[in-house]
Amino acid sequence: MPVEVRLENLTKVFRSHRDSVVAVDHLDLEVEKGELVTLLGPSGCGKTTTLRLVGGFEIPTEGEIYLGGKRVTHLPPQRRDTATVFQSYGLFPHMTVFENVAFGLRVRRLHRDEVRRRVREALKLVNLEGLERRYPRELSGGQQQRVALCRALVIEPKVLLFDEPLSNLDAKLRVETREQIRRLQKELNITSLYVTHDQAEAMAISDRIAVMNEGKLQQIGPPYEIYAHPANRFVADFIGRANFLAVRVVGAQDEQFEIELPGGVRLEVPAVTGLQAGDEAIAVVRPEAVDVLPEGQGDVTAEVTFAHYTGSLATYKLSLPTGETLEVEVLSPQEKGFLTEGTKVGLRFHRQSIHLLRE
Ligand SMILES: Nc1ncnc2c1ncn2[C@@H]1O[C@H](COP(=O)(O)OP(=O)(O)OP(=O)(O)O)[C@@H](O)[C@H]1O
Ligand SMILES: [Mg+2]
Repeated sequence: MPVEVRLENLTKVFRSHRDSVVAVDHLDLEVEKGELVTLLGPSGCGKTTTLRLVGGFEIPTEGEIYLGGKRVTHLPPQRRDTATVFQSYGLFPHMTVFENVAFGLRVRRLHRDEVRRRVREALKLVNLEGLERRYPRELSGGQQQRVALCRALVIEPKVLLFDEPLSNLDAKLRVETREQIRRLQKELNITSLYVTHDQAEAMAISDRIAVMNEGKLQQIGPPYEIYAHPANRFVADFIGRANFLAVRVVGAQDEQFEIELPGGVRLEVPAVTGLQAGDEAIAVVRPEAVDVLPEGQGDVTAEVTFAHYTGSLATYKLSLPTGETLEVEVLSPQEKGFLTEGTKVGLRFHRQSIHLLRE
């Protein structure tokens, strides 16, 4: 697939008389045609700034932006083929739904009949038929969000930019709306750059996720890849939950490593590059990648120090004889028996799910 968005060495420093903030720090990123890439990271990591740079609302301090192969780094927003869906919707309060959606087409001087046809079509896409004459204040939050989406879609931009578009909706509507956005994005094959700090949302909606921290790209890849093979501790911790165990690599073959846990237990785990026999490493152990068994079975003994039940899932904190704590999740605890604090158990690690980090 051809590359539709290319960010090259993109850097933005905000300077004032008080201080200077490096909001985006030498970012390289490519989005292919029809792909949805999400910028994910904690508050203040530079997601919105990156999106605003792509949309033309900020000018970079350094670096270049290409859209469809054309350099647009210094072009104003209206001369880039992008449309943005903002968190706050940004609808015109004094205009009807129809007028809000038509606005971008009128600016582009399209014929009246063409405007009417395209607005109707777009409203149909997001299930807003019949609401053309309402004003934004007469709509629910979810409906306002769909008008904002519709307004962006109707101009058929090359690239759609989303900045936390769902954060003002309640939990259930967030899930419904993100499914709708994803379906439309795929159907219309619109290249999209999507910003969120919600990792579940990012996992659900993205072809690839770009994890950022302090303005820097940490890792980019499909959701599954980022979860299973995080590039570093930050990514492992930010995407899902993770236990970190200090281990030593005692044997290294092409496909398999042997590692030693604190206390001397040895496990065969998938090999990673950059480590060899004798190295210290960090084992990333996901909470669902440990079986809880009766005491005496499995790899190690542990004691339940905290137990939390949420229906489909039981979460346990367990302490190992060597002092480490592990967080473990057990599905369907009704069937397996809910464990209480103080219970001694055996733990078995899923070897194939353990991912090693260098530090
Ligand atoms: N106009 C500005 N002037 C000065 N500093 C700014 C400006 N805009 C953003 N910053 C700073 O740049 C950094 C990145 O901000 P940005 O809004 O891109 O973060 P974000 O990842 O979108 O965070 P959030 O998840 O909270 O929306 C922050 O430290 C912020 O304070
Ligand atoms: Mg932001």
